[in-house]
Parts: sequence; structure tokens; C-alpha cells
Amino acid sequence: MTKLWGGRFQKSAEQWVDEFGASISFDQTLVMEDLDGSTAHVKMLGACNILPQEDVQQILSGLEQLKKLAADNALEFLVANEDIHLNLEKMLMDLIGPVGGKLHTGRSRNDQVATDMHLFLKNRVGEIIELIELFQQTLVAQAETHIETLAPGYTHLQRAQPISFAHHLMAYFWMLDRDKDRFKDSIKRIDISPLGAGALAGTTFPIDRKLSAEYLGFANVYANSMDAVSDRDFILEFLSNSSMLMAHLSRFAEEIILWSSSEFNFIELDDSFSTGSSIMPQKKNPDMAELIRGKTGRVYGNLMGLLTVIKGLPLAYNKDMQEDKEGMFDTVHTIVGSLKIFEGMVRTMTVHKERLHDTVHKDFSNATELADYLAAKGLPFREAHEVTGKLVFLCIQRNYFLLDLPLEDLQEASNLIESDIYDVLSPLAAVRRRNSLGGTGFDQVAIQIEEAKKRF
Ligand code: ARG
Repeated sequence: MTKLWGGRFQKSAEQWVDEFGASISFDQTLVMEDLDGSTAHVKMLGACNILPQEDVQQILSGLEQLKKLAADNALEFLVANEDIHLNLEKMLMDLIGPVGGKLHTGRSRNDQVATDMHLFLKNRVGEIIELIELFQQTLVAQAETHIETLAPGYTHLQRAQPISFAHHLMAYFWMLDRDKDRFKDSIKRIDISPLGAGALAGTTFPIDRKLSAEYLGFANVYANSMDAVSDRDFILEFLSNSSMLMAHLSRFAEEIILWSSSEFNFIELDDSFSTGSSIMPQKKNPDMAELIRGKTGRVYGNLMGLLTVIKGLPLAYNKDMQEDKEGMFDTVHTIVGSLKIFEGMVRTMTVHKERLHDTVHKDFSNATELADYLAAKGLPFREAHEVTGKLVFLCIQRNYFLLDLPLEDLQEASNLIESDIYDVLSPLAAVRRRNSLGGTGFDQVAIQIEEAKKRF
């Protein structure tokens, strides 16, 4: 089979060499974007009188037929035709004859592939933003039902201070909100048309790049043709934003895994988001959360992969750049799946309120309350900390918690302590009183949720 670029060649490569160089196995994902890019290009060629109208019409009708076949999955791609661009061009010529060969006037595969990637990512990032928002709505809905659900808050994975469970959930809301902002902001750097940059230097044809950009719905055109064909930072930025998103999802996944263990038993995942063990009948595994935690690795890997490909590449296009695709497709697939699964997992999980309630009543996470109480009565905080530490030690020796200590013992440690201490030490009061801006106090959490709702 002759190559579309075969003119200056005396012999052809062996099939296994072709296979190594071909990208059709993966860049067929870009079939619709490539056909859209060609449609805009040929319309522009017509509008600028570079091609006669009858040629333009024939090419457009051929591209329409190809779009229908693509939608029906009826196109047969060949490794011999290397990539999506040459496969489609060949198919177009098979359909409408040699006039199809005029499509590539004033264009190169270099601006063509960059255009496809920009179009692809622009659409996907829009979908990803919507999925993040859906997940945020689910978090808000869960948080609203758990404002007064007490839970232990941790530092160093040691019980620290009691919190509202809604506050914990909302922490992830805000991480996702920044992720969403990053994706939104990135759109202005994706929404730029490279089409018409040619191989690297522009073209001698009197093309109108702004017109083809407009046909494709791009907000802008690249100002420099060499930058246009060799820029991959819009993809790197996407991979970096995706890595940050996965870092957040992975931390949350880790908590879901911990919380659903018998040791914590704070939540139970719905059966539809859990799996069993093939050998241990009692088990219910949080596989989906584990997988999201695990898939974080490939997303980071895709970022590192492309960063490494790009470093040191001379301008302009180099075949190395073909390596930008699989990692990007894989990342889109991974984060879309992870967001959908996580949303469902959180929407359907059962929160064990009673267990959470018991937990905060059987620990020392109210110790700060005692220290603050003494400090509020004028004792320097360092001394208050010392007195409280000694009382905690006393409790441990007697197998008590602070609320179990008789008033005499408390007063022996400090004569500043009065009987109102028992109210102060209640976890409910401890949470309620943390009413500083952004704190876990119930009123603050309610305000926070109202703020969150304004973000949709
Ligand atoms: N398949 C190629 C890629 O993905 C398309 C561009 C090829 N350009 C070239 N000059 N060989 O990068």
C-alpha cells in the first residue's frame, strides 16, 4: 500500500516498523475532533477562495458521510495509514475521489493534531467540571444531614478534638472547589486554535485563521505558528490539575477505607459499591475506594511521563509528541470514572451516628476544653496544659475519662475548677463553642454550607 507521503521514498518500511510508528490504535479516539477540524478548515478554504465552491461542497459531503460512519463505529482504521489524520484523508479520497486530496491545502498534520487535542480537551474538561460539581452537591447534601453528628477529629491519626461530621465532609467540598476552579481557569489556555500554523511556519495560502477558529468555537488563535504546533503545556496543565484532584480523592478514599473498617466502624458503604471476598464469607471490601487510591498512581505517572517527553525537545514538532495522547486519554478516563464512583459511594453510604457519638464520649478529645477553661480563668495556658495533662494521666491510671472524675479530684488539681466544668467537658458543648470563622461550631458549619451552595 502506498503512503500518502510516499513520493520521495524508494522502498517502504517493513510492517513491524510501521506498527512501531503508528498511532492509529489510540488516536482513533480523536475521530470526531479530526473530522470537525477538517470541516472548519475546508469551509475556511472556500470562504477565502483558495478552493472553488464545488470542491468544497464535495469535500464537505464526504466528511459528513465519514462522520455518520464514525458515529456508527463503521470505519475501519489501518495501521498502514499510520494515524487518524492519514486514515481519514485516505477514506475521504476513497469516497469522493482525488478532489479529497485538496483538503490538506494550507495545512499540516502538525497543526491538525494540535487542533484535535485542543478540541478534545476543551469538551472533556467541561464534562469533568460538571462531574466535580455533582459530587460537591452530594457532599453538601450529606453534610446538611450531619451538622450535629459528632465525630472525633484527628491529628497524627490520634484523637484530637471533637468535630461536626459535616465539617469533615465539607473539608473535601472545598478541596474539590479549588480543583474545579483550576480546571475552569485552564480552559482559557485550551481554548486557542493552532489551526493554520501549518508544519511550523504558517502558509503561503491566504488563509483566515480567525475564521476557522470561529467555526470551531475557539475563543482565540495562537499568535506564533511555532508555538502553536509545539505547545503541549495545555495538556501538562490538565495532567497537573488531574493529579491534584486525584491527590484529594485519594486522601478521601483512604478515610472511607479506614472509616468502614471494624476498627473505626464510622460508616458502611452500600452493597452496590462494595465487593465480597472469594474465600472469607464475612468480608465486605471497600474496593472502589481502594481502586481510586490506587489509580492516583497512573495519573501522577501520566504527568511525569509527558513532562519528561517535552523536556529538551527542540522546536517545533517532533515525533516524540505523539506520546502525549495515551496518558491524556487515560487520565480523562480515570478521573471521570473516579468522580462518578466517588459521588455514588458518598451518596449511598450509611453514617453510624450512634457509634460516632459513643466514640467522642470515650476518649480524651475534650482535654483542650479543660485547658481552655483554666486559661480563661487566668491561669497561663502552659500551666493549664500541665494541670490537664496530669488529670489525663490520673484518668488513664484509674481507667476513667475526664467526665468521670469526681469534682474533688479535679479541684485538687486546680482550685479554679468549679462544678460547671462538666458542661464544658461535654463533646457537644466543645463543638458548639468552636464558633470562630471556619470552625467546627454548628452555627459556623451551617454558615459554611450556605457559602458552599453559592458556588453552584
Ligand atoms: N500522529 C502524529 C502525532 O500524534 C501526528 C502528527 C504527525 N506529524 C508529523 N510531522 N509526522 O503526533
